[in-house]
Amino acid sequence: MHVNLEKIKKLESKPFIIKNFINSKEINIFKKLYEELPIEINNRRQKIIKKKWTSNFNKEFQDQYIKKLRSIIGSFEMDNPRSKDKFESLGLFQESFKPVPLHVDTGFNFEKILYKQTLLPLSEKSETVIFKNRFYGCSTTFSIDPKELKSKGYNKRSSEHIDLFDGKRFDKKVHETFLSHENIDNLKGLEIEMIFEWKLGDLLIFDRTALHCSSKNLNGKKLGFTTSTIKL
Ligand SMILES: [Fe+2]
Repeated sequence: MHVNLEKIKKLESKPFIIKNFINSKEINIFKKLYEELPIEINNRRQKIIKKKWTSNFNKEFQDQYIKKLRSIIGSFEMDNPRSKDKFESLGLFQESFKPVPLHVDTGFNFEKILYKQTLLPLSEKSETVIFKNRFYGCSTTFSIDPKELKSKGYNKRSSEHIDLFDGKRFDKKVHETFLSHENIDNLKGLEIEMIFEWKLGDLLIFDRTALHCSSKNLNGKKLGFTTSTIKL
C-alpha cells in the first residue's frame, strides 16, 4: 500500500480529455518516432509490441511535450521505467492486436506520490474504459482466470479487486458492447467513469490509481503512447 495515500487521494480527479493536444504535424512526428524506435518488448502471448521513447530520440520534442503537459496538469515529474539499455524514457508506445485486460499502472514504489497518466491515441476506432474504482497497491493485472493468475509479466496478477468493491453484477449490455473480452464476473463491483473514444490529436488524462482496460473494439490493431507522472 502506498505510504502517501492521503496526498495521492487529494490529487485525484475525474478523467478528462484535451481536444487537439497535438496537431497533425506532431501526430506524424509521433508516428515516425514509433517506426524508428527499437522494440523493447514483443509479447506474443498478449499480442503487444512495446517501444520506449528514450532520451536519445528527439529530446527537443520531448521537452516541448513535457512543457505542454505542465501547462495543463501543473508541476510533475515523469515516472516511466528506464529502457533495457538504461536510458531514461518519456513514455511507452504500445501497439496491441488484442484488447489490453483490466489493470492499474500504480508502479512498484510505494513512496512515490502518484499523479496522472496520459494516453495519446495514434490510431482510431477504438476505446479505453476508465472505471471509478481505485486501487492502491502495485501495478496489477486483475483476473479471476487461474491460468492468467499463474502467468508472469511486468504487472502482478491478482483477483483481490473482487473483494474491494461492492460485488454488484456488471451490466450485461455494456459488457457485450465494450468488454466481452473480459469475463463478466471479473468486472463485479466495477463502475464505468468514462469510455474514451480514440481520436488522433486528443489526449486522455487520468489518475494512476484508476482501474482501466481496452474496449473489445480495436479495428485489428491499435497504437497509443502513454506516460506516467508523479508529484514531488
Ligand atoms: Fe494502463
